[in-house]
Amino acid sequence: MSRLEVAPEQVPAEGSRSLIRHEGKSLVLFNLGGELYAIDEGCPHNGASLFSGRLNGRLLQCPAHGLRFDLATGCVPGVAGFGVATYAVERQQGHCFIDLSRPRPQESLPCLQLQ
Ligand code: FES
Repeated sequence: MSRLEVAPEQVPAEGSRSLIRHEGKSLVLFNLGGELYAIDEGCPHNGASLFSGRLNGRLLQCPAHGLRFDLATGCVPGVAGFGVATYAVERQQGHCFIDLSRPRPQESLPCLQLQ
């Protein structure tokens, strides 16, 4: 399970999101201005679904307790070493793929940046 092809009907339109389930894993795929971001559905704090979280730019707010995650890095701005896993998304010749082999964040440095 390293590279998942997203079914065309599951690729979200601009400004929307979709829930992707694959081999026991749940991901949310966001389309922000044509840019696709994939994260784990479960909040790393206490497991709430991030699918319905409110977006402010690239920051997604968990509906349970309000932690905010940067969709690009998975980090909580201002907090080191804690974040939601994100996955690289590629588009190739009209197909969309999520790379499940290397979830991020793998380093805490970007999490230190305040926004
Ligand atoms: S479960 Fe997401 S902030 Fe607590």
